[in-house]
Amino acid sequence: MNRVCVKSYLLISLLLTGLVALSVAISSQAQQSGVLTGNWAAAGPSNDGYIRKAYFNLKQEGDSINGTIRATQFFYKIIKSTGGPDGFSLEASMMDGKNERKVTYEGKLIGNEMQIGRRARPDQPVTFQTAVRVPDGEGAMPARIEPPPLRKVRYNGLAKTPPMGWNSWNKFAGRIDDATVRGIADAMSKNGMKEAGYVYINIDDTWEGYRDAQGNITTNKKFPDMKALADYVHSKGLKLGIYSSPGPNTCAGYEGSYGHEEQDARTYAAWGIDYLKYDWCGARNLYTDEEMPAIYQKMGEALLKTGRPIVYSLCQYGRQDVWKWGPDVGGNLWRTTGDIRDTWDSMTGIGFRQNDLAMYAKPGHWNDPDMLEIGNGGMTDAEYRTHMSLWAILAAPLLAGNDLRSMTPAMIEILTNKEVIAVDQDKLGKQGKQAWKSGDQEIWTRPLSGGATAVAVFNRSKEDAKVTVKWTDLGLANKKTVRDLWLHQDITTAGSEYPVTVAGHGVVLLRVK
Ligand code: GLA
Repeated sequence: MNRVCVKSYLLISLLLTGLVALSVAISSQAQQSGVLTGNWAAAGPSNDGYIRKAYFNLKQEGDSINGTIRATQFFYKIIKSTGGPDGFSLEASMMDGKNERKVTYEGKLIGNEMQIGRRARPDQPVTFQTAVRVPDGEGAMPARIEPPPLRKVRYNGLAKTPPMGWNSWNKFAGRIDDATVRGIADAMSKNGMKEAGYVYINIDDTWEGYRDAQGNITTNKKFPDMKALADYVHSKGLKLGIYSSPGPNTCAGYEGSYGHEEQDARTYAAWGIDYLKYDWCGARNLYTDEEMPAIYQKMGEALLKTGRPIVYSLCQYGRQDVWKWGPDVGGNLWRTTGDIRDTWDSMTGIGFRQNDLAMYAKPGHWNDPDMLEIGNGGMTDAEYRTHMSLWAILAAPLLAGNDLRSMTPAMIEILTNKEVIAVDQDKLGKQGKQAWKSGDQEIWTRPLSGGATAVAVFNRSKEDAKVTVKWTDLGLANKKTVRDLWLHQDITTAGSEYPVTVAGHGVVLLRVK
């Protein structure tokens, strides 16, 4: 061997040793931590400049994948995995109050990207999103802030009768924007609703933007100037409401008020906001249901501190017997149920289940069986009259949830029936109760001021039904006058009974004195 040969032999063997050492290192790393390990984010579509990301913080070891998933308002821990980079499935779970929520994601690695998604329903295909690697720590759940000790929040003096107005969610969900809100305010001030008592124009979820460098909440592109919008709504003689969550995220995955309660309350006051709906949502990841009162108290105190009159609406789906502590945390109203849908079953399922809560309603503090669906198209006129009558008997907030810019005369008539609204808004503030039931027919009564009584004869069957109202059974034997509030006429009922035919899914609503 000459010198050149020796040199190149040494060089090659050195290189080979290096390569072997390197590949040993790589393969042992692969065994410790697989290619899926890392913090991944998938950005959802955005029509407003606020990008909602789902985070997959994964640790792959051999054929097991662990870690967490944070998507919209939810934060799950992975409890089971199958498969690997070429195709895997993750089962994840979280506690939501006393209930466990589970979710399954499916995914695969393609180059440097991960395709990952879930089925909205078991019978639907997986909707995949593209996730990319993001720095560690991005999208991490914030640390838990301990709830404050409980103390009674002073009553703000508002909502002496159930709030009346409109809310964007039922009809528009994420498609609500500045122009639509202005259009709704225009409509409400012109179509008789304002005269009938509707006043709050409430923007629900999806108005939120990011926080600025000082931590102030901003609006997203759909709401270029909230102060200007409030000025506009006020110029129509109406009031503006807004929405947030005590959690880091709202239900739709936008920015919540977590850790910014006082700052947000100040921002709302500066914008000219008159009403806040505060929706549990992402708070479920940090707090138990038992801690709800303390968490709601925080915002109740923050709103009071602004000095601006702001109606405080609690939305936590009626958990933890909210009616028992809602007033103590400053609440003017509290949702008693999950979300209403524009169907007969949903509306009646909620409305007729409110009987036991009657004792908790009083001026300044109301049970809220959710917003109205009247005019959204899923029910018949008779069914919407039942909806309106039932909510009036329940002393429920009357928050229309339809597109006020395009209403049929029938829907305007239902929503602006002043005699029915007078029942809802009666200053005695007593919620009605079931007084009689036979099969699908029910009579509910509500005591009104001045010794009057509202009597609603409901027919929950599809077929017309004959009902004989027996005044003595209702404690109304001494009645002098009876007025039908949908026919707008006085009824002559000399005897002790009033036989009446009630249309299928319909109602006869009477005011008895
Ligand atoms: C929850 C509430 C709804 C609505 C949505 C918005 O579901 O119960 O009324 O506010 O959140 O994301």
